[in-house]
Amino acid sequence: MGSKSRITGIGSYVPCKILANAELETMVDTNDEWIVQRTGIRERRIAAKEEFTSHMCINAIDNLIHKYDVSVLDVDMILVATYTPDFHAPSVACLIQQHYGIPATGTLDLNAACAGFMYAMNVADGLITSGLNRKILVVGADTASKITDYTDRSSCILFGDAAGVILMERTEEAGACIARHFGADGSGGIHLYRTGLRSEMTGKKLTGGGMLMQNGREVYRFAVGTVPIGVRKLLNLAQCGVQEIDWFIPHSANLRIVESLCKKTGLPMEKTLTSMEYYGNTSAASIPLSLSKGVEAGQVKEGDRLLLFGFGGGFTYGGMIVNWTLRCCRSNRRTARLPILGRRSRGC
Ligand code: UT7
Repeated sequence: MGSKSRITGIGSYVPCKILANAELETMVDTNDEWIVQRTGIRERRIAAKEEFTSHMCINAIDNLIHKYDVSVLDVDMILVATYTPDFHAPSVACLIQQHYGIPATGTLDLNAACAGFMYAMNVADGLITSGLNRKILVVGADTASKITDYTDRSSCILFGDAAGVILMERTEEAGACIARHFGADGSGGIHLYRTGLRSEMTGKKLTGGGMLMQNGREVYRFAVGTVPIGVRKLLNLAQCGVQEIDWFIPHSANLRIVESLCKKTGLPMEKTLTSMEYYGNTSAASIPLSLSKGVEAGQVKEGDRLLLFGFGGGFTYGGMIVNWTLRCCRSNRRTARLPILGRRSRGC
């Protein structure tokens, strides 16, 4: 059997500051009932003024190191999925390399918006199975609060900040990844974009160099149309039925989207892990955050089969079916009693 990849650790981080629906009511014309009914979100976490994506990534990696008692000094590639890097250059991956002093590693940020973590996992699996790399940190992190317009009630209610990470390593045994399906539709770019060097896309002039713009209805339509087709493709590729999936972990954009995906695919809500209720839509971090939370709570167990699916700006989408081969981490019993996530955050 050739080289395969397996997941050997998971960690996550959320900032301390909570932005609850009640506080949003004082900022824009909205109310808790509307937000909960339309999105399922009650709270989201907001990074501190001087807390950026790289800081959250490092906290998530520290969480992984602590839980699994592993070293990252021999990592040979760092991949970070984000559309809110601290700088355009150096990459967030470089900032992580510098922080830990990792001596011999490649570093790369990639951007597929909210589908970014899935893309990064797919790239990591490709690098390992091709024999190019042996041990890869795969991070998904976004500080969307830094680019959110807090006068726009249709978008500011959605987003929260977080980071999630997995460690992927080469194995000669059975690999984690069973099936994958990825794609994009660039014509959807105008419905969800972040300004950068160019500040306009739809003819509307925007101020500032980094604002998040979205047409929520179109994003909604895209998600409920595209993801079920992708899920069916994945199941076909893996030659398995929905009943053989132990956990469905879609991008936690909006609870209504997730409920619609479950209805259309036959994947049950009781077997679905989400994180939007208390963390909002955490963009590239949402899938590893939900998974990390599920592992810490003892829901996801060694031998489970997971279906992960991300979607977002671009439009981009991508999913994988993976075998969860990770044994309980050494401190699982202890961490389960502590507030899940964010407990190692600075200043908490
Ligand atoms: O990672 C991907 C990122 N993006 C997404 O996942 C976004 C996906 N889309 C959505 O989550 C939903 O489209 C939203 C939550 C953004 C909006 O929900 P909706 O059910 O699609 O509402 P809508 O845009 O159709 O608006 C319905 C009404 C409108 O009022 P009128 O025109 O009917 O009088 C909006 O002005 O709700 C109004 N509205 C609000 N009311 C109270 C929009 N935002 C709010 C708000 N509070 N925050």
